[in-house]
Amino acid sequence: MPRFSKAVSSLRSSEIRDLMTLASRPDIISFAGGMPGNDLFPVQAVEELYAQLDIKKKQAAFQYGPTPGLPSLLESLEGFLEKKGLPVKENRLLITTGSQQALNILAKAFIDPAEPVLVEKPCFIGALSAFRSYDAELRGIAVDSDGISIEGLRQEINRNEKAKFLYITPYFHNPAGILYTAERKEQLIAILQGTNIPLIEDDAYGDLYFFEEDQERLKPIKAINPDGINVCYTGSFSKILGPGLRLGWMLVPEKIYAKCELIKQSADACSPSFTQVLADAFIRSGQIYSYVAGVRQEYKKRAAAMVSALREHLPDYVQWNEPRGGFYIWLILPNEADATRIMTLAIEGGAVFVAGKTFDPAGRQNNSLRLSYCNNTPEQIAEGIPIVASAIRAVCG
Ligand SMILES: Cc1ncc(COP(=O)(O)O)c(C=O)c1O
Repeated sequence: MPRFSKAVSSLRSSEIRDLMTLASRPDIISFAGGMPGNDLFPVQAVEELYAQLDIKKKQAAFQYGPTPGLPSLLESLEGFLEKKGLPVKENRLLITTGSQQALNILAKAFIDPAEPVLVEKPCFIGALSAFRSYDAELRGIAVDSDGISIEGLRQEINRNEKAKFLYITPYFHNPAGILYTAERKEQLIAILQGTNIPLIEDDAYGDLYFFEEDQERLKPIKAINPDGINVCYTGSFSKILGPGLRLGWMLVPEKIYAKCELIKQSADACSPSFTQVLADAFIRSGQIYSYVAGVRQEYKKRAAAMVSALREHLPDYVQWNEPRGGFYIWLILPNEADATRIMTLAIEGGAVFVAGKTFDPAGRQNNSLRLSYCNNTPEQIAEGIPIVASAIRAVCG
């Protein structure tokens, strides 16, 4: 047996991932993936933008680039982020290979084996696996419909062994679907100030809002720019252009940036130049704004179709959120329910989702499940939700 490092020895494929391979049958309606619909990608627009580039830009696209990112993309992305009120001039921007890499780099920068980090419960699985890969002790804090539990956060912060950071996804949470209230963010800021616990604020979905009136709630904590907190803000092109570009970013204070740049250099030297050139052209053409406005409407339509099907078919004992943006609806079932059993039945019936324990930092609590509406037509949603609902009834009564 090879002698693996302590940090990675405990990493293994979950039973849910194994079940998912069963669900790759082409006739299965999948509410499992958190990826944009293939039909929504701006294929033609990007083809035209590439065709219009001069030869020097095209050559640069094939070349290695600087570790922090191509200067032209850093400049155009700064403009994009400044429109959200983000303090780009007082911080440093680092292009990463997906925002997953940003989380991995930050984890490497802060975590020594067995050290505690604070995460939401439930939490984005990619973040959990990045933190686990450095052997962190994950401390989950419950979320409700307004955001992370302030009482839970206070208790964790008052513990003797200080956490290395707090990681949150306040804008259309994956998997809980929620949007933090402005008040909850203010309370969170007040608690973190003066603790010397950095905040990792993951904003992968904030652009995909359905309601203009949510602007205040969508303002990143990084844009509020609170005194006395090192806010590490991460974002991504994955949901607003395409995950295949593998481009994300972090906007962080100078001191944290310096370490992260060194870590990135050792990981991949630079993110793909080819897709950086494309993303830069997409921003500079202004099409990013019109494209995102279009997909927002499409996801809103898909979310409405799922809400309507859930209202019609779910038993009353299931609690769930009506999404205000993003990709997800989170169902909370009675305490004793086992979402893996429900999932097995749903797969037999022809539909699949992700069972809740995937997102539990402790990997146990399983009376919940995540449905994605981003990659299905309203017709597929209308056909698939009754299958999920009948699997829930078969297990929970
Ligand atoms: C909350 C959240 N953060 C980060 C990511 C990582 O995205 P990417 O690495 O494609 O930028 C995802 C992907 O699903 C996500 O849901």
